[in-house]
Amino acid sequence: MLRFGIVTREGLLEAAAAAPAKIAPAVAFPLVETFTGTLSESEEEALAFLYGGIPAGPSIKLTWRERLRAIDDIILPEIERRFARERTIRVHDMAASNAISSVDFFEQLAATGRALSYLASDFYDALLVVSLPGGRWRVVFNAEGEPLQIVGRRMVLASAGERKRFPVNRLVHRWAEGRLVPKARALLAAGKAERIALFHPEALALAARDERFRLGRENVFEPPRGPFEVVKIVSFLSPHRFDRDTVRRALMAITPTIAEGGLLAVGRTQGTGDRLDASLFAREGGRLVWVADVRDGYAYKDVVTGLG
Ligand SMILES: C[S@@+](CC[C@H](N)C(=O)[O-])C[C@H]1O[C@@H](n2cnc3c(N)ncnc32)[C@H](O)[C@@H]1O
Repeated sequence: MLRFGIVTREGLLEAAAAAPAKIAPAVAFPLVETFTGTLSESEEEALAFLYGGIPAGPSIKLTWRERLRAIDDIILPEIERRFARERTIRVHDMAASNAISSVDFFEQLAATGRALSYLASDFYDALLVVSLPGGRWRVVFNAEGEPLQIVGRRMVLASAGERKRFPVNRLVHRWAEGRLVPKARALLAAGKAERIALFHPEALALAARDERFRLGRENVFEPPRGPFEVVKIVSFLSPHRFDRDTVRRALMAITPTIAEGGLLAVGRTQGTGDRLDASLFAREGGRLVWVADVRDGYAYKDVVTGLG
């Protein structure tokens, strides 16, 4: 059997509006760039559907407005309690995905009237798309230069491989991996790729009009020095992804980036649901002390308080 993919914006809007398919159709990732300006509800749905399929290291790119509101509501009064009004509040919102939940938090902070500097970052912040000569095929790479998809005029193949039930796709995939991907890699190395940002259009627009809000590519395991009054990492350092030693390693790199007296928010949202379990810690004397929980709190709370 042959299986096509979704390569048009109309096809994507239809697929996103339909009841969830048993096997989600392969959607051409570069369609992300067709979503610009203010989005309608159905466009938001389609974009979320598309983001949900984009692999991003050990995770996927998933966030939405208000998703982190419960922890934000705890951070805000804590900032007021800890920092003088004239102090600039520097925030690093890591693993922020498309940063739409960062736009939320930024707006809440901005409403307090404080001086602000907000960095929303994600390691997989862009797609690199190489068009092959002839214009029939494109190869899509992630920000690390790993191939994700091979996109034809009607076909979308996952670089990781095609399912057994689609033998024609498997054949085309084998041919593409052998012939197209090496050519595309060479073009990528020669700087011939188009870069498509994976931030939500509203986050891009905010960054373009307000210099207090920046978007960037940062790695949780090698964070920028800071210091930041607030560091947020939600839905990344979770037990279903990382063991305690790996989380400890990340937190040891992150702690020095938090200003003395500053805050660390870390936790997990459960899948596509609204449940958030998170904790807030403060850096005091080089250690992190527990401040508050949302619901059951962060699963590795003891790792955080046991650092140092
Ligand atoms: C599930 S999203 C979390 C989004 C948001 N923080 C939230 O809770 O709604 C996880 C994000 O981690 C990013 N990611 C994966 N590996 C990373 C790394 N080493 N450093 C920074 N971000 C990473 C992915 O690209 C993905 O966007």
